[in-house]
Amino acid sequence: MICKELLHENLGVKGNNLTFAGYDTVELAKKYGTPLMLLDENKIRNTMRTYKNAMQKYFGENSLPLYASKALSFVGIYQIAKEEGINTDIVSLGELCTAIKAGFPLERAFFHGNSKTDYDIEFAIDNGIGFFNVDTQDELYAIDRIAKEKGICQKILLRITPGIDPHTHAAISTGKVDSKFGTAIETGQAMEITRLALSLENIDLRGFHCHIGSQIFEIEPFCDAADIMVKFIDQVKLETGFEAEYLNLGGGFGVRYVESDPHIDYTDNIRRIAEHINAYCQENGLHMPKILMEPGRSMVADSGMTIYTVGSVKEIPGYKNYVAIDGGMSDNPRYALYGSQYTVLCANKMNENADYECTIAGRLCESGDLIQENVKIPKVSRGDNIAVLVTGAYNYAMASNYNRLPRPAVVLLGKTDRIAIRRETYEDVCRLDEIL
Ligand code: LLP
Repeated sequence: MICKELLHENLGVKGNNLTFAGYDTVELAKKYGTPLMLLDENKIRNTMRTYKNAMQKYFGENSLPLYASKALSFVGIYQIAKEEGINTDIVSLGELCTAIKAGFPLERAFFHGNSKTDYDIEFAIDNGIGFFNVDTQDELYAIDRIAKEKGICQKILLRITPGIDPHTHAAISTGKVDSKFGTAIETGQAMEITRLALSLENIDLRGFHCHIGSQIFEIEPFCDAADIMVKFIDQVKLETGFEAEYLNLGGGFGVRYVESDPHIDYTDNIRRIAEHINAYCQENGLHMPKILMEPGRSMVADSGMTIYTVGSVKEIPGYKNYVAIDGGMSDNPRYALYGSQYTVLCANKMNENADYECTIAGRLCESGDLIQENVKIPKVSRGDNIAVLVTGAYNYAMASNYNRLPRPAVVLLGKTDRIAIRRETYEDVCRLDEIL
């Protein structure tokens, strides 16, 4: 077979066609049209179980993953998370309402974000949100005030910036002191906000949260962050007598997008981080809180794939070749935004030599609308199918209607193939417009 090694075990080849989760992707493209996002349901479920089992085994029975649903939010994913018995993290009322529609128990949801409005807070409390993850003093006062009006005492975690730079892309690194998120330990403000939280009558502080960044392959940054956080928790206990119940270490485990990325064993990562925290707490006589983690990307990225149809091939002799597809930055803005790497295949020419160097261009009216530059695929022509792998996280979630393009359909591949999000129609695209 020409294509040496496929990136993930849910990929295969049948005849000349690429298969995903056991389904022929070219057949699916015919059946549902393109651009088409495919999701491997078993893989999502397995990953959720892997996290849940590993966390309960190594961090203790009370430890659970929260699915960071900003990575991919739609009704079905909260139904799956509910069935798999994990928690979720939401960052907006849009995500919250999607979870409500799925029947997700909101007492198991954590509301994150650095600029929640009074309306957000009120709506979430009215619907029984479990925890707020609080970023700032302003937010803390607002939650206290609204909780008081409602006659409740609201559970919260405080988001703390441990001051870690995990050497990842600047736009997705969030744990540094000057981050827009959280309250820094280094400046003394973390202790201040903790004292404030403890003093407010309608606030029930349960612990602390940190998130250091995304697409991190090493475990060291997580161990460093955990050291800083458990030390902080100890300091809080010394100074205030408050013993934190929870420490949420955030998300951030890396995902294999291209062959040069390493394979990651999430169970082993969790085992090593747990061993490290245990040892560190023992050596320093520190209390080990219940550990939470909130993976987004690593729960769904490699369960996703996008299939496109080639619209044109343009060769500029002496310069470059463009293969233009029927989607682009409106369904996958990650190359345009971050220069993210992707593996690209021709889904209907899996046995042909991948020796045609080209840039995969989107169909939007913008030169930067590229999906990937200088990839090698077989020579393609109009009508061929292009597969972009590992698009489950932060693709559909970041999709837009730029150029008034409808968002693609999302099809869930499990025992059967079923539409999880129907393709937007042109009617949908204009549905909010008034005729003047
Ligand atoms: N928790 C918090 C507080 C977060 O801010 C994030 C991601 C996560 C958990 C989940 O992190 P993950 O496990 O997915 O790395 N749009 C960017 C990624 C932004 C990540 C934002 N926060 C991208 O496409 O790469």
